[in-house]
Amino acid sequence: MLFTDADLPRSPEQVAPGAMWLPGWLTRDQQAWLARQFHMWAAGPVPPRSAKVRRHEMSVTTVCLGWHWRPYAYSRDAVDVNGRRVLDFPDWMVRLGRRILFDATGDAQQAETYTPDTALVNFYDATAKMGMHQDRDEISRDPVVSLSIGDTCTFRFGNTENRNRPYRDIALASGDAFVFGGESRLAFHGVQRIHPGTAPDGCGLPQGRINITMRVTGLETGQPL
Ligand code: SIN
Ligand code: MN
Repeated sequence: MLFTDADLPRSPEQVAPGAMWLPGWLTRDQQAWLARQFHMWAAGPVPPRSAKVRRHEMSVTTVCLGWHWRPYAYSRDAVDVNGRRVLDFPDWMVRLGRRILFDATGDAQQAETYTPDTALVNFYDATAKMGMHQDRDEISRDPVVSLSIGDTCTFRFGNTENRNRPYRDIALASGDAFVFGGESRLAFHGVQRIHPGTAPDGCGLPQGRINITMRVTGLETGQPL
């Protein structure tokens, strides 16, 4: 669609201490390239699946890189899908995460050593949502770096105590980056709704939304890059 949220001039904003929203961080071409990567990841060895949380299927489908996430653990093999080992975490994504973290914080030392080793890649159709939750299955408390492609969503970013107020609702659009670390690392957050038909032309995903969250599991020391 022409003239969406993603086309408006928007500035970086600290949403809470340690939580930075970087609108329009990815160019349209980078978005389209990542959307193509998503389609390759989705082709296997482990297909996207809806994880079951307390016997209910989540409305998003997820494919993982580096480590496979299931509620509430990481493993190398997708033991709750088809038992196959997930794809390796790509080196380029480590570099991408470092650049975003540096832009979010200005902390070169933290950014240079940031080494995400898993990415949860979620696909949202027009009706998918994600309830308020904390990302706490990682041992490490290094920041989470998130990227969005496709339709805009209403992303709710809350507090570290509970799922209720205070929270902020923000429109995460195609190309936006969002980082949460430090005091906000364990903030509750979720996706209230997708806004169908808002994916900008040329982003590589005409409908639906892809969200990539990079994280450091702290489970195994990776090879130095
Ligand atoms: C997540 O919390 O894992 C995903 C958030 C998002 O889709 O923006
Ligand atoms: Mn999360």
